[in-house]
Amino acid sequence: MKNTFGNSISLTIFGESHGPEIGCVLSGLAPGIPVSEEKIRTALWLRRPSGTISTSRVEQDEFRIISGVYQGRTTGTPLSILIPNTNTRSADYEKTRFLARPGHADYTAYCKYHGFEDPRGGGHQSGRLTAALAAAGGILLPALEEKGIRIGTHIRALGGGREGETEFIEDQAFSQDEEALNREIESLKMKLFPVLDAAADEKMQHRIQQARADRDSVGGILESAVSGVPAGIGEPWFDSVESALSHILFSIPAVKGVEFGEAFSMVGRRGSAYNDEYTACRETSAHFPGKGGKSPEKGQIPQNTVIRTRTNHNGGVNGGITNGMPILFRTAVKPTPSIGITQKTVNFGTGEESEITVSGRHDPAVIHRARIVVDAAAALAVSDLLALRYGTDWLA
Ligand SMILES: Cc1cc2nc3c(=O)[nH]c(=O)nc-3n(C[C@H](O)[C@H](O)[C@H](O)COP(=O)(O)O)c2cc1C
Repeated sequence: MKNTFGNSISLTIFGESHGPEIGCVLSGLAPGIPVSEEKIRTALWLRRPSGTISTSRVEQDEFRIISGVYQGRTTGTPLSILIPNTNTRSADYEKTRFLARPGHADYTAYCKYHGFEDPRGGGHQSGRLTAALAAAGGILLPALEEKGIRIGTHIRALGGGREGETEFIEDQAFSQDEEALNREIESLKMKLFPVLDAAADEKMQHRIQQARADRDSVGGILESAVSGVPAGIGEPWFDSVESALSHILFSIPAVKGVEFGEAFSMVGRRGSAYNDEYTACRETSAHFPGKGGKSPEKGQIPQNTVIRTRTNHNGGVNGGITNGMPILFRTAVKPTPSIGITQKTVNFGTGEESEITVSGRHDPAVIHRARIVVDAAAALAVSDLLALRYGTDWLA
């Protein structure tokens, strides 16, 4: 099983929910990138459960960097991070060893690993492993920001209304204007519950608490933006920007859909509405070499001119390649599968019809915790694509 994402800059993730430690290895990072333990701690804190809207399994995530960093900077060799699991309660899972939790990976893991898998707490498929991805984000996100690339995510819509209530509670969408967008991304940075509109924040948290009271769960839609990526990044076919991002986004447990730009809401419209018209702006960007044509015959975008689009329905990507507008995408995060309501299932150890009432500690929603994981995943995919274009040293 290959557990690695990325070509030039890659990430390997390992561990099980109730094993001694989980962790990751980041390879291909240039030497000299600053590594701040504080920033890794912040990324882990943003993913950690908190308050009454999350599971009571709280891990302190006292991580250790065991290779690849010397005197606060990357050495250029594989960077490994270990994060201990300390707050495990494996007995919760013994009674239900062969009962497939509907929506979870117990049965599929059994089919793949023939019963040799570690089933405790969801084993290798547990959301716990996303801590390792978040930790990697604690290195990549600040490194990209140094280059003017900002990544942010908020809960655009929370689902799961009770009967008679609206299906979704909506947050305001990210701004079209890039400066305003960057301010919004900044404002989200230290929010444990990443929502732009305070009124939506309160309503959403209330709904999650209702779901917990009902022993049920809710999901929703995350909206993400990557600003500052120059035009010309990505490959035209199999490593298109959309392919690379979706590949890693779909690796995040509970992610069941990804949309770029306004794909699903705009396809019903005509080309004249969907197309993003171009405009020429005067700007400078010190970070990105080699924009435009290389010779007069091939055309030459004048110095200090940046071509933008007036709208961004395509989410900053055309033909798999960035067009210089913010990359915009949405991620559907399903309701947490483990719920306290009794559901029908099968005991896959005996083949008998059965029922399951999940009694372990689980989140009534994972969407707010998934935000930093999505940011980290986007940072990895974008760093890898940039490294393909400019070389790995570019990130230093
Ligand atoms: C941060 C995070 C925390 C999660 N916590 C839980 C949890 O407490 N209980 C649970 O059943 N699923 C949890 N999940 C989701 C499951 O791991 C996921 O639904 C399961 O592995 C099946 O994979 P799939 O939903 O992608 O098909 C979590 C996911 C994330 C991203």
